Amino acid sequence: MGTMRAVAAFDGLPVDDPASLVDVELEVPEPRPADLLVEVRAVSVNPVDVKRRVRGGPSSTPRVLGFDAAGTVVATGERVTGFAVGDEVYYAGDVTRQGSNAEYQAVDHRIVGHKPSSLSFAEAAALPLTGLTAWESLFDRLGLGHRSDGTLLVLGAAGGVGSVLVQLARLRTAVRVIGTASRPQSAQWATRLGAHAVVDHRDLVPRALEAAPDGVEWLFSPFSTGRIEEFARIVKPFGHIVAIDDGAPDLTPLKPRSIAWHWEFMFTRAAERTPDMAEQGRILEAIARHVEAGELMTTVSTVLDDFSAAGLRHAHALVESGRTIGKVVIARP
Ligand SMILES: NC(=O)c1ccc[n+]([C@@H]2O[C@H](COP(=O)([O-])OP(=O)(O)OC[C@H]3O[C@@H](n4cnc5c(N)ncnc54)[C@H](OP(=O)(O)O)[C@@H]3O)[C@@H](O)[C@H]2O)c1
Repeated sequence: MGTMRAVAAFDGLPVDDPASLVDVELEVPEPRPADLLVEVRAVSVNPVDVKRRVRGGPSSTPRVLGFDAAGTVVATGERVTGFAVGDEVYYAGDVTRQGSNAEYQAVDHRIVGHKPSSLSFAEAAALPLTGLTAWESLFDRLGLGHRSDGTLLVLGAAGGVGSVLVQLARLRTAVRVIGTASRPQSAQWATRLGAHAVVDHRDLVPRALEAAPDGVEWLFSPFSTGRIEEFARIVKPFGHIVAIDDGAPDLTPLKPRSIAWHWEFMFTRAAERTPDMAEQGRILEAIARHVEAGELMTTVSTVLDDFSAAGLRHAHALVESGRTIGKVVIARP
């Protein structure tokens, strides 16, 4: 099918090294029978891009990073249903395959949704990875539903995942949402997305217990390291925590209150080819309907237009700061 421009990592180099992400020319991927071939119009950068860039060892094979994407279908495999050439789509992809930092990407149609028609490609590219993580955390791992009440504490409420999770919790449950943020601009962002209260995570236990004196039933954590004893003081007996970050924390402090710990990893369904893998496509369609109904906002905060190694290094540097609000997106002009 010819060649395409892409951005690849070959080594785990720091982002200020121009060799950390480089421009390459690669073969356009051949779609497998269940794949869509998508012309990528916009991507967002997530902390997982940074982690995979840094942790990838030396390799002679170009590793194309990038998970979130929005674009247009240009070819379909023979087993694809529900999509046609010309459809505008968005997806978070599959960590076991080449990524979206390229002109074209092949992706299994079961983990793809139609792009919300009310959003640009840039606005849509902000949503899939964080939307799927937030949805699976709330509804699959914590089992929350329209009738659920109690209080949910959302760490990193202005971050990529938190920004969608706060909105979905307000939209699809009856829980009271307390977000955490440590700066006026992140606190304002979390409030605008629907948090009932915002507390500073630098003084977590007293601030959270001021907002919820009896403790919380539910806790979402993208930043768990060193916090388990604090969580044990904030979460009520028989409460639930869902965590999305890395590491193997010692959970012993949770035992006296019988607090349950859930892991959420957005890539599990695609990487393990689970029987319910197509659920991710359905979640993306449901998120698109909420967006089109004006119930859920895109979380994009920064749009860069340099879809190249230099532009992606810039975006990685912003995400690496750990202080981004919402999402950083790169769109083709
Ligand atoms: N398991 C999965 O499927 C999955 C999916 C997505 C992300 N993740 C992981 O989850 C983590 C967060 O991802 P993200 O995209 O939401 O991050 P992000 O957008 O980079 O989060 C940035 C926000 O987090 C807040 N923050 C920074 N350090 C914090 C801390 N120690 N405690 C509480 N809040 C803190 C900051 O708010 P303030 O400036 O107000 O403090 C900032 O606005 C990353 O490690 C990522 O790899 C996992």
